Order: sequence, then structure tokens, then C-alpha cells
Amino acid sequence: MVGGGGIGPSEGGKEYPGKLTAKVFVACVVAGCGGLIFGYDIGISGGVTSMPSFLKQFFPSVYKKEELDVGSTNQYCKFNSETLTMFTSSLYLAALVASLVASHITKLCGRRMSMLLGGSLFCLGAVLNAAAHNVLMLILGRIFLGIGIGFTNQSVPIYLSELAPYKYRGSLNMIFQFTITIGILFANLLNYFFAKIEGGWGWRLSLGFAVVPALIFIFGSFFLPETPNSLIQRGRLEEAKERLLAIRGIPNVDEEFNDLVAASDASAKIKDPWWNLMKRKYRPQVTFAILIPFFQQLTGMNVIMFYAPVLFKTIGFGNNASLMSAVISGLVNCLSTLVSIATVDRVGRRKLFLEGGAQMFICQIVITIAIALKFGTSGNPGVLPKGYAIGLVVFICIYVAGFAWSWGPLGWLVPSEIFPLEIRSAAQSINVSVNMIFTFFIAQIFLQMLCSFKYGLFIFFACFVVVMNVFIYFFLPETKGIPIEEMAGIWREHWYWKRFVPAEKDPPTKGNIEMRKA
Ligand code: BGC
Repeated sequence: MVGGGGIGPSEGGKEYPGKLTAKVFVACVVAGCGGLIFGYDIGISGGVTSMPSFLKQFFPSVYKKEELDVGSTNQYCKFNSETLTMFTSSLYLAALVASLVASHITKLCGRRMSMLLGGSLFCLGAVLNAAAHNVLMLILGRIFLGIGIGFTNQSVPIYLSELAPYKYRGSLNMIFQFTITIGILFANLLNYFFAKIEGGWGWRLSLGFAVVPALIFIFGSFFLPETPNSLIQRGRLEEAKERLLAIRGIPNVDEEFNDLVAASDASAKIKDPWWNLMKRKYRPQVTFAILIPFFQQLTGMNVIMFYAPVLFKTIGFGNNASLMSAVISGLVNCLSTLVSIATVDRVGRRKLFLEGGAQMFICQIVITIAIALKFGTSGNPGVLPKGYAIGLVVFICIYVAGFAWSWGPLGWLVPSEIFPLEIRSAAQSINVSVNMIFTFFIAQIFLQMLCSFKYGLFIFFACFVVVMNVFIYFFLPETKGIPIEEMAGIWREHWYWKRFVPAEKDPPTKGNIEMRKA
């Protein structure tokens, strides 16, 4: 069927018994806190880099441009500095590499081990940053933060999708995104208050406070149960059965357990999951592992998340007003994620993707026109009328809401639920790596883009939003209500992907023969 469509348990798939137990809910909330550290970091760097005392100490050339040259520099270009962007983006490169290493640890030592390591390394990075006396220490700290994030983002979404009963998988997985948004908001709020500290050392508190979400996550992870899927994968069958009985809260879990064992047996035959990813039958999953995070970043959301205060300052808000506006957009981001949590397992993934995309597109066009009319190419609006400024913030918030109930949470949910066990850990690393490469890319080039595209900045992202909506419409099958180890069926039913996926029981189809030859 063109346009994806859906199959659910009622349409020939499996329906395991089992409810959402308090144990699973609490475990998902605790594991979901992994998002806190990622979010805290996203939110903190933008605010810190707009604090004059921080700029003065570490990036004096930017400080000079900003404070002393007002008027003589184009407003769109005054924050453009290579070391400043290196500070923001070094973390994402470290996370990229770390997620590849984490793939092995998550598979061989379990999901929890990667989570514990992630939290601990992040903590180390936060301490280094808070104590920084030079740019080197600052960047070193960010590298540790990045390694921590690489481990956490690789393992937490898998953990959540495996532990959750399939009917609630969407909502429970999205706790990760929800805590990302709480982390961002928390960071924005702290920046707002710490920026006011006299003596200009508030940035140390902003950076150092990252240990708080890290400690919450590390402490929680100690008490988490490992997922049955991971226990089976590591040969601990009895323990896995007991775990499954306990988390599903019913006396008989045989059907689900047997399917998990079968999935694990199939996965054990595969020696090298990385090489395996190249196989034709995994083409759909690998395509999504690459394109979903790519598109998520090309929505342009992180332009707002990283640089909201800088962006608001550029368009004429004062220091405090800028940080306050960032707090407002952070709050909208957080609350709108709840909409997705409440609806994703009923409405499905596709509708949320498509609606969110349309909403973001409209806002990007409105924002571009509003900035073009008032700021022109010099970026200098003179005195910005209050109503105009409020209108701009409102549209930025509607845009943020669109992202927050679509590409934000779905960007983590969909990849984590479509990979079969044998490639899950490796494919999730690809997802995280691509996410980090493009987060890096956006962080790295945004200030230059702002300087050269000026008010046209958002049009660049709007074009991608159109492409991604078309892509989702035609190529993403609905994954709502399908058990995770049964997901293979969705590709066989899909008008396009079915050509890559052999029919069940592997009869000698053309695709199979080609695969065997390969
Ligand atoms: C993305 C981040 C983004 C955040 C905003 C996450 O899903 O991966 O890059 O900053 O959402 O809420």
C-alpha cells in the first residue's frame, strides 16, 4: 500500500498477554532519566556562550566583537567564532565515537552496563568543565560529557523499547525524550539565574550542575533490572524467564518468552552484526537508522535549542529577555512532548510525524518573513516593537511544539523499535552516530549560516521538512501495536520495502537467492 499504512496485532500479528506493571513503569522512568544529562547539556551551552563573563575569559575575541563593536558589526555575524563553535560541537564528535564502542558493551555486558558507564563519564566531564581555567580543559570536559552521552543514548532507547509491553512501547520510550526536554528546561532556567550572579562566575555553576542529573541517573541505574532480551542474548535463560514473569505481572509468559529465545537464537548465528547490516534484507532498517536522525537534525530544532539566547539577542532582545525567551521555548518543548506520550500508541507514529512536519514548515515560513521584514540584511531592527517580538516568540514556540510531539520523541522511538535483535545494538549505534554527526554539523555551521543566510536561515530547514514529510508518507510503515520481535512483518507488507525482505521461512525467492550469492 502506498503511504505506508499499518498492520497491528489484530491484523494477523501476535498479541502477548501482560499489563503495564508498576515495576516496568518505575524502571522506565528511572532509565528515561538518561535523557536528563543529554538535555541538560543541550540547554546549557547556548546560555553559557551568551554570558559575557564566560566569553571574556575563554573567547575574548567574540566578547570584544559583541560588547565593544555594537553597531559596526553585522548583527547576524557577531557571534561567529570557530573556537566558540568548537566548544559547543566537540561533545558531539566524542558522542559519535563513543556510541560505536557502546554498541559492543550494550550487547556483551548488557544495557545497564552502558548506562552506568555513560552516567559516570558524563559526571567526570561536568567536574572538569566547572573547574576549567582554559579552553583546553573546557573542551576536554566536553569530550567526557560527549562520551557519556554516546553511551547513554545508545543504550537507553533500546532498554526502554525492550522492557515495555508492546502496547505501551511508544509512550514508555518517549520518557527518554521527555527527560531530554526537562534537562533542557532545567538548564535554561539555571542559566537565567546564574547569569545574574555578580562576579561573573555563574557559568561555573551552570556547567558544574550537570553532575546533578548525572548522579540521579547513575544512582537509578544501579537498581534497574536488565531486560529479558539482553539476558537471553547472554545465555541467562532462567533468569530471563523469571524477569519476564515479574515485569509482565502474569503467570504465563511462554509465548513471548519463546519468541524472545527464537529471536536470540537467530541472532546468535550472526557473527558480525556490522557486516550483517550490509545485507539486503536489512536495507529498510538501515535506511531508517540513517535517515531518521538525519532528518531530525535537519528540522533545524537545535538552532533554537543551542542558540536560542543568541538568536533572541540577535533579533533584538536584551541579555535577560533572551534567556527568558529560551526558558519559555524550553517549557513549550517539555509540555508538548506530553501530547506525544499521551497519543503515540493510539494515533500512531505516522500521523504525529506528518502533523508535526506540517506545523514546523508553516512556522518556518512565517518566522522567515517576519525576520526579513523587520531585520533586513543588516540584522538591525532598530527598536523592535513589543508586539512584534512577542509574535516572533509565539511562532518559534509553535514550531518547537511541532517538533516536540513529532520528530523529537519519534526520532528516538522509531529506530529503537524497528531493529531485529541480531542487529539492534549495532544499528542503534548508527542511529546515535548519525544524530551526533548532524547535531555537530548544525552546531558547527549555524553561526556561519546565520551570518551568510541571514533571515533566510529557516528556509534552508523548511526545504528539508518538506522532503521528510514526503519520505515518511511514502516509506514509513506504522509500527504502533506490534511486538518488537515481530516487527519483521511490517516490511513484508509494505509496497516498497517488501522487495528487500524475504517471505517468512525463507523460501527460495529471488531476493533470497541474491542474498545467498552475495
Ligand atoms: C534531539 C536533540 C534536540 C532535542 C530537543 C532530541 O530528540 O535529538 O538534538 O535538541 O530533541 O528537544
